Amino acid sequence: MKTTRRGFGTIALGAAVGAISGTTVFSRKANAQTRAAHAAGVYDNGIIQLNQNESARGPGPSTMDAIHSHTTKRVGRGYSPDHVNELRQGIADYYSISIDNVQLATGSTPLLQGSVRAFCDADKTFVTPMPTYSTSLGTARTIGAATIELPLGSDLGVDLDDLANNADGAGLLYLCNPNNPTGTVHGPAAVEAFVRRVMRENPDTYVHIDEAYINYTRAGAMETALPLAMEFDKVFITRSFSKAHGLAGMRIGYALAQEETLAKIRGAWGMGDVNMLGAIAALSALEDKEHIAWEAQENAEIRDEVVGFFRSRGHEVPDSNTNHIFVNIGMPAAKFREGCLEHNVLVGRDFPPLEQTHCRISLGSREEMKVALEVFAKVLG
Ligand SMILES: Cc1ncc(COP(=O)(O)O)c(C=O)c1O
Repeated sequence: MKTTRRGFGTIALGAAVGAISGTTVFSRKANAQTRAAHAAGVYDNGIIQLNQNESARGPGPSTMDAIHSHTTKRVGRGYSPDHVNELRQGIADYYSISIDNVQLATGSTPLLQGSVRAFCDADKTFVTPMPTYSTSLGTARTIGAATIELPLGSDLGVDLDDLANNADGAGLLYLCNPNNPTGTVHGPAAVEAFVRRVMRENPDTYVHIDEAYINYTRAGAMETALPLAMEFDKVFITRSFSKAHGLAGMRIGYALAQEETLAKIRGAWGMGDVNMLGAIAALSALEDKEHIAWEAQENAEIRDEVVGFFRSRGHEVPDSNTNHIFVNIGMPAAKFREGCLEHNVLVGRDFPPLEQTHCRISLGSREEMKVALEVFAKVLG
C-alpha cells in the first residue's frame, strides 16, 4: 500500500516569501515516491514546469519496473508488434469492449488531427468552444475547414446548448470533458442529453468527447461517454496516457468508437507506430489502479491547497477536475508568465479570448508548488 500524507504542514517562511507568511504551505515531507521522483530537485532544466499539464510524479513503481526490465532485456528487438497488440487487447478488456473498438496512437494528438481531417472540410464545419484544447482547431485551420468558435458560459464551463445549436452543417463538434484549460466538467446526464439532441437533430454530425483528464475528476462529477460511443457511430472518445498515468514522454493515446468510425479517422491521418516500451508501460499503468487512485488523491490535495491560496487572495478560480487550474489573475497572462519565469517558474500559454485576465497553471508536485506559491505571491504583489 502506498502511503499518502494527508494535509499540509505550516512552516515558517523567510523574508522573501513574507507575502504568504502564515498561510498553510506544502510540507517537505512528501510521499516517498514523490521524493524519489524529485531527488534531483524541483527544477527541470532550471525551471519548474507548470505549463503542460503533465503528471509531476510520473508513472508508478510497477510501471517503472516494467520499463526498466524491458529496456535492459528487450530494447534491441521491437519490430514484432506483440506488446502493442497486448495493449490494444488490454484496453478492450479493461472496458469490456471488442478490440475492434480500440484505436491506438502515438499520444491522442494524431487522433485529434485525424478526426478533423476525416470529418471536416470547407463545407463541414468544425465547431469548438474557446478556450479549450486547440489541437483540433489548429488542424481545421491547417486544412482550410470552416470553423466556429463559441464562448464559454459565465461559469467558464462549456455551453452544451450552444454547441448543439451550432451542429447544423457541422462535420464535427469538439467537447473536452473535463475542459482544458478551465478544468470544468459536465456530468453524465448533461453529456447524454447533449449527444442525444445532436444525434436526433443532426445525425450526420460527429461528436468528439476528449476525456484526457478523466482520472483527475472529483468523485461523482462525470462518467465516461463510452456507452454513447458504443451506441452511436458518430460519437467517439479519446484518452491519453500522458496525464494521470504519467507517461507523456512515451506518447500513447487511444480512441474508443465503433469500428467504421475508427477506420475513417485512421484513414485520414497516420497514427504513428506505438513502440514496444510505450506499450509495455501503458499496459502496466492501465492495470495499476492503486497508483492512479494515489495520483488522483495527491493531485486533489495539491489542487485544494493551490486553489485556496488564490481564492484567499481574492482571485476567482473555477472548481477544477483536472491537474491544472484556470485563475483570474487580473493581469495579462503574458505579464504574469514573464514575471514567474524571472523566478524560474513557467506557467501556461495564452488562452484567447481570456488571455488578458486568466492564466492556466499546471499543478506540480507538493515541493514544486510550495516554491511556485512563493513566486506567485511575489509576482501578484
Ligand atoms: C485535452 C487534451 N487532449 C489531448 C491532449 C494531447 O495529449 P497526448 O497527445 O499527449 O495524448 C492534451 C494534451 O495536453 C489535452 O490537454
